Amino acid sequence: MTTTIVILAAGKGTRMRSAIPKIMHKISDRPLLEHVYDMSKQLPNSQIKIIYGHGAELVREGLKHLDADWIEQKQQLGTGHAVQQITGHIEDSNKVLILYGDVPLLKLDTVNTLLDHAGEYSLGLLTVNLSEPRGYGRIVRDSSGNVLKIVEEKDATQGEKLIKEVNTGIMAVKGDQLKTWLGQLNNNNAQGEYYLTDIIEMAVRDNIKIITHQPHNEDEVMGVNNRMQLSHLERVFQQEQAAYLMEQGVTLRDPARFDLRGSIEQLGQDIEIDVNVILEGQNKIGHNVIIGANTRIKNSSIGDNVEILDNCVIENAIIGPGSRIGPFARLRPETVLANDVHIGNFVEIKKSDVAEKSKINHLSYIGDTTVGSNVNIGAGTITCNYDGVNKHRTVIEDGAFIGSDTQLVAPVTVGKNATIGAGSTITKNTPENQLTLSRNKQVSISGWQRPVKNDCKDAAAKLMSGTITKDK
Ligand code: UD1
Ligand code: CA
Repeated sequence: MTTTIVILAAGKGTRMRSAIPKIMHKISDRPLLEHVYDMSKQLPNSQIKIIYGHGAELVREGLKHLDADWIEQKQQLGTGHAVQQITGHIEDSNKVLILYGDVPLLKLDTVNTLLDHAGEYSLGLLTVNLSEPRGYGRIVRDSSGNVLKIVEEKDATQGEKLIKEVNTGIMAVKGDQLKTWLGQLNNNNAQGEYYLTDIIEMAVRDNIKIITHQPHNEDEVMGVNNRMQLSHLERVFQQEQAAYLMEQGVTLRDPARFDLRGSIEQLGQDIEIDVNVILEGQNKIGHNVIIGANTRIKNSSIGDNVEILDNCVIENAIIGPGSRIGPFARLRPETVLANDVHIGNFVEIKKSDVAEKSKINHLSYIGDTTVGSNVNIGAGTITCNYDGVNKHRTVIEDGAFIGSDTQLVAPVTVGKNATIGAGSTITKNTPENQLTLSRNKQVSISGWQRPVKNDCKDAAAKLMSGTITKDK
């Protein structure tokens, strides 16, 4: 049987106080709606219909990569009205699953159970017991516990308001039944809206049993209405991911201070991650990798036995096995490090290849460069890759030794096993095996005296000319 999944996403989200439509706000770098979509995509034989409305252009543009039918609800006249927009697209024999675009953490197995409850003679309704049920539709049951109807807060009697079991809004219904009931909705209620929830009373009238199911926890069915709820669900999501990684054998020094905003495509054994680490996009992490505190890594590949010390920023880089990075290193896009490379503190590398066992340990900028193997780059070395208009490449061949505070003005090549004297400005290719240096001769001046402060000089002059006399 095919499932038609309807994701309600037309609402405004006033309490976000944002120019961005609510469902476009992000958890873990992905819009709320995309979380619902991703879960929906895992249901076999299903088609996804998204009811959108508020912020239509931003939503369509931002989510055009989703494989779904988009149906616009031009005026938001209620949840029932929203589902009415797809009446013409519902097959009688299908099951229809109603989801909310602003409820991002709903789990697949919860939805599957709900779908099992929907059929010829029954409807599946997801409810939850809340200690503070204010604002939600209440589940009204008879004395034997059978669901009779859902009453919205604004239409509820004092007695009904005491009910703690609330409607999550998520339900599964047979297509033909839903279509019949959608045709019978009216807006004679406190809010003048077409309530989807009214179909529950109609189902009971038509002898369709309401089978309720409860989620694993409240957070699973929690919607985002304001920024507090957004941050709360972000934390819940992050803790779920952290728990998953720990189950896979990753040590997280503090799972509450770890963020995975994306995926880890390859996960080695015995990875250890210190606090305040952010992993973004798609990363690969090998065996025995240590990642120090306060580090951000995006779209990168980290080989086995790599140690990344504290406070590094790494993006679109490949780090070979056994390498050691940081602390305070920045690896920018297209950095490719081979095995056993050392990149130390305050070193920035961009669009460069560094071959095995080379070391760039302190205060350097290496950009648009090919570094051979066993190269030692001294502190304060800078590749001058930009002439103000174009970028040029630097090549440093195997075994070269670059003295501290060297400027390599590209395009330039440092030959194999060449040594560059400290403080040199290298503008021409340097030969293999030789020492090259460009440096003024050091001079010492005998009899030279340090200058004295001006007001002292003035006082001395006045004293000499007799304008003032020295105190006794
Ligand atoms: C609805 C339920 C309520 C339930 C609550 C759970 C109804 C009448 N009430 O309340 O029983 O406890 O959800 O959160 O269904 N939407 C549209 N078009 C509209 C109206 C809403 O797409 O015209 C979408 C919203 O974007 C949102 C979802 O439907 O994703 C729910 O709308 P919301 O206004 O939050 O629901 P409530 O009426 O508060
Ligand atoms: Ca809501």
